[in-house]
Amino acid sequence: MKHARITGVGHYVPERVVPNAELENYMDTTSEWIIERTGIEERRFVDYGRETNTYMSARASEMALKRAGLQATDIDCIVFATLSPDYYFPGNGVLLQRELGIASTHIPCIDLRAQCGGFIYALSVADQFIKSGMYRNILVACSEVQSNLMELSDRGRSMSVIFGDGAGSVVLQAHDQEGQGILSTHLHSDGTLAEELIMKNPGTLQEKRMTPEMLEDGSMLPYMNGNLVFKHAVVHFENVIREALEHNKLGVDDISLLIPHQANLRISKYIQGKLGLPDERVFNNIQKYGNTTAASIPIALSEAWEAGRVKEGDLLCFAAFGSGFVWGSTLVRF
Ligand code: UT7
Repeated sequence: MKHARITGVGHYVPERVVPNAELENYMDTTSEWIIERTGIEERRFVDYGRETNTYMSARASEMALKRAGLQATDIDCIVFATLSPDYYFPGNGVLLQRELGIASTHIPCIDLRAQCGGFIYALSVADQFIKSGMYRNILVACSEVQSNLMELSDRGRSMSVIFGDGAGSVVLQAHDQEGQGILSTHLHSDGTLAEELIMKNPGTLQEKRMTPEMLEDGSMLPYMNGNLVFKHAVVHFENVIREALEHNKLGVDDISLLIPHQANLRISKYIQGKLGLPDERVFNNIQKYGNTTAASIPIALSEAWEAGRVKEGDLLCFAAFGSGFVWGSTLVRF
């Protein structure tokens, strides 16, 4: 059977840095509050019209392709995860195909919606295609433009201080060596809590998708029951990491580097403590980028790789939890 190996990683973050102090101008908040509750010191916001979701994912993908030693035309499938696509439809997969100049019409572009779980879900889909022998070179792209989903005001402050923009991509390639590449993916979901982290509108529940009332009542803004999400996140993160380890008959000591979805530094630290991992075996960069939803793990992976913290033979663990609720984990032998 074929196995899927990550052969290239890349990321792109917008040029504009938005420090906590800037947000103090727009809403009743303080940099101290944001750092204490989330660990975030700054985030990036796109230059609208230029740094689109597709633009960022194309730059991240070009970096990943270059590092894999491939041309865009070598890709035979794109799996794209985002909650903030350029258009309502079509999805971003085909836009990335076009932006990368892939003229072949033989490749599928799959758009996937799993919010903060997007990268793990996308990896899992790509992994199955490679294992089945259907495709050999798959581009997994995750990109988010969230700054314009947020209301930079007192009303929106509990969400808008957390989220940022950015993109991360990985190239997966088929290979034959047993025990290398993606060892497993474990995916979960619980729709009973769908409304606890949600952006309701513009939806299709009512006759008109957009009304002035929706702007007034805040239902076109993301909403999160922060405390409840936090409590679920810490439990599921730990369990799904342990599930992956048990499945592969490995222990916490075998993990070379844990890259959790960058939801909140307090969540990452809590999981690190529960697992008993030292600082050098966990990678966080939420301090610089905030929560970039589907893109957070591949951005962190790309930075960890650049910093020399991912070496051949290392065992990496990725885990995510988010809106849905959806959560999952992946173990990868580099
Ligand atoms: O990525 C997807 C998954 N997401 C997560 O896992 C995130 C999970 N949740 C969290 O990270 C945290 O719950 C938050 C960072 C969202 C909030 O932190 P918290 O410690 O749970 O704060 P809180 O919601 O309990 O709010 C505490 C207080 C409230 O005031 P009162 O009611 O105690 O007077 C809020 O109104 O902080 C207030 N507050 C703020 N104060 C200053 C809320 N947002 C802000 C703000 N600046 N931006």
